[in-house]
Amino acid sequence: MTENQQPIHLRRIRSYILRQGRHTDAQRNALESHWQQYGIDNSTAPLDFTQLFHRTSDVILEIGFGNGESLLHQSIQFPEKNFIGIEVHGPGIGYLLHRVAELKLSNIRIIRHDAVEVLTRRIADNSLACVQLFFPDPWHKRRHHKRRLLQAEFARLVLCKLKPGGKIHMATDWQNYARQMLNIMDNTENFTNLAGKGRFSDDKGTRTETKFERRGKKLGHNVWDLIYYKS
Ligand SMILES: C[S@@+](CC[C@H](N)C(=O)[O-])C[C@H]1O[C@@H](n2cnc3c(N)ncnc32)[C@H](O)[C@@H]1O
Repeated sequence: MTENQQPIHLRRIRSYILRQGRHTDAQRNALESHWQQYGIDNSTAPLDFTQLFHRTSDVILEIGFGNGESLLHQSIQFPEKNFIGIEVHGPGIGYLLHRVAELKLSNIRIIRHDAVEVLTRRIADNSLACVQLFFPDPWHKRRHHKRRLLQAEFARLVLCKLKPGGKIHMATDWQNYARQMLNIMDNTENFTNLAGKGRFSDDKGTRTETKFERRGKKLGHNVWDLIYYKS
C-alpha cells in the first residue's frame, strides 16, 4: 500500500512541519500557568463536549488557529457558543492562552496536536456545528501540494464530524488552493455550496482578519471564502 492509499489517520504526510519557534516570556508563562484550565491533554479518548464546557451548546472547531485572533474574537462575540481550537505551533498557543486567561473566557478550549488525528479519534460523528479553516498553509510548490490539508479524504472526514445542517467555512489567499478547495468541496456528496456550485462566497461569515490574511493582502493577494453546509 502506498502512502496515499492509506487511511487518513495512518497517512504520514502531514500538513505542517513542527518548528521549535521562539516563545516570548508571556507565551511560556501562559503555557505553564493556563494549560491546565484551557488545554485538552493528548489522548485517544473521544471528547465529551458537555463535560468539557460544563454545558451543552453548539461547538465550533477551528483548525490551525495560528495565534488565535479569529478564535478569540468569535469566542468574545458569541459567549453562548463553545469553541475548540487546534494548533501545533507552541508560541501561537501560548499567545492565545495568555489572552484567554486575561479575558477570563470560559467558552474556549485548546488542543495541541495534529487536527487530522484529533478529528479522526476524538471527535464524535455528527457532533460539530461548524469547522473553520482559515488561511491553511498553502504549500505553494506543486511537489508539496500533497501536504495541503484540504484533500478529498479530509473533506469527507469533516463531513462525517459535522451535524446535519452544520457548516465548514474556509478562507485562503492562494488562488490555486482556493480552486482546489472549490473543486474538492463541490464534488463531495452531501456538502452544499452556500454560494452555488462553482462559486466562492461573498460572505465572510463571522471570521475576523488574521495575521496571515494581512500578510497575503500585503503581497497583493485576493482572499477567497468558501462556505458549505452538510445536508
Ligand atoms: C498559515 S497558518 C494560518 C494561521 C491562522 N489561521 C491565520 O489565519 O493567521 C496555518 C496554521 O495551521 C497550523 N496547522 C497546519 N496543519 C495543522 C494540523 N494538521 N493540525 C493543527 N494545526 C495545523 C500551522 O501550525 C499554522 O499555524
